[in-house]
Amino acid sequence: MKKPKPIAEIASTGRFLPDNVVTNDDLAERMDTSDEWIRTRTGIRERRIAPPEMGAAELGARAARVAMERAAVEPGEVDLIIVSTATPDRWLPSTACDMQALLGCSNALAFDVMAACTGHMYGLSMAEGYIASGRGEVALVVAAEKMSAILDWEDRTTAVLFGDGGGAAVLKPANGSGRGILSSHLQSDGNLAELLYRPGGGAVDPLSQSVLDEGRHLLKMQGREIFKNAVRSMAEACDIALKKAGWTALDVDLLVPHQANIRIIEATAKYAGIPMDKVFVNVDRYGNMSSATVPIALDEAIEEGRAGPDANILTVAFGAGLTWGAMTIRM
Ligand code: UT7
Repeated sequence: MKKPKPIAEIASTGRFLPDNVVTNDDLAERMDTSDEWIRTRTGIRERRIAPPEMGAAELGARAARVAMERAAVEPGEVDLIIVSTATPDRWLPSTACDMQALLGCSNALAFDVMAACTGHMYGLSMAEGYIASGRGEVALVVAAEKMSAILDWEDRTTAVLFGDGGGAAVLKPANGSGRGILSSHLQSDGNLAELLYRPGGGAVDPLSQSVLDEGRHLLKMQGREIFKNAVRSMAEACDIALKKAGWTALDVDLLVPHQANIRIIEATAKYAGIPMDKVFVNVDRYGNMSSATVPIALDEAIEEGRAGPDANILTVAFGAGLTWGAMTIRM
């Protein structure tokens, strides 16, 4: 198979995590759970929780500033801002527009993408298409999630799993060296929406006292069903993305998976034939930050020297929608 030629490359990345660390023991003080249960079932030890006044726009803007500085991109040079978030600061306007104002990127167009945990990959793929069309050269792709704001803190089956954070990437046209996005496979299945969703508070069941009293505006998840679908879909997506890139598992230097549960990560790596020493894991420190997990993990991997120049990265994610996808990138 002919090897694909990249159109866009990741020029830089950045991340921001709030300072406040909440451990499993902290949670066990306020709900019927334990460090042992959370660690053995999920791999999570602690997560970061943003202060009340800090929303997704701020979490993402802080990550974006780091990425922009590393790529030596001035705010006025950014052509496109795509923000992935399942926790917009407000319903109107988009969090991307709020973030644009914070960053001073006055020449950009900005919009949100809502694909839950897979959102960063959707954003990267859309930015790649935008660059391919020749309409712009500098894209800021950000994922920012304040999951703590949409959790039911009385529900131990979801509250222990998530955390807050922001991750960012600057995308530019590939320079012909072979670095960049080589392949992607993105998919969704709206028939399974109710496995992971927020039932109320939208236009069909607008915010009301009954929505608030019953917590219909908060996240609900059928964990076991999501688990099964995640493992199957991520395995399939990895296969397809690898094949499109003309790679096998042996070509992968690092797998950067969505960080929801260490057991899902291990099952995905096993299926893909990638040993765990080539898998990036930080779910223990941050929990599931929805779409922010992939860019934050990639940024940490780069900082640790595990995703340096010319490293072959396979990234994969799964989330509400359902949505899922995988991407191969030469750094
Ligand atoms: O980002 C993408 C979306 N999210 C995911 O990918 C998450 C996918 N799902 C999962 O990671 C796992 O299904 C969970 C971690 C959510 C749950 O693990 P599980 O092994 O599937 O546990 P379970 O739901 O089958 O529950 C086992 C038991 C239940 O008790 P009984 O019915 O056996 O008596 C639960 O009530 O564990 C109980 N349980 C807890 N116990 C202590 C559920 N949550 C907790 C908790 N602490 N926090």
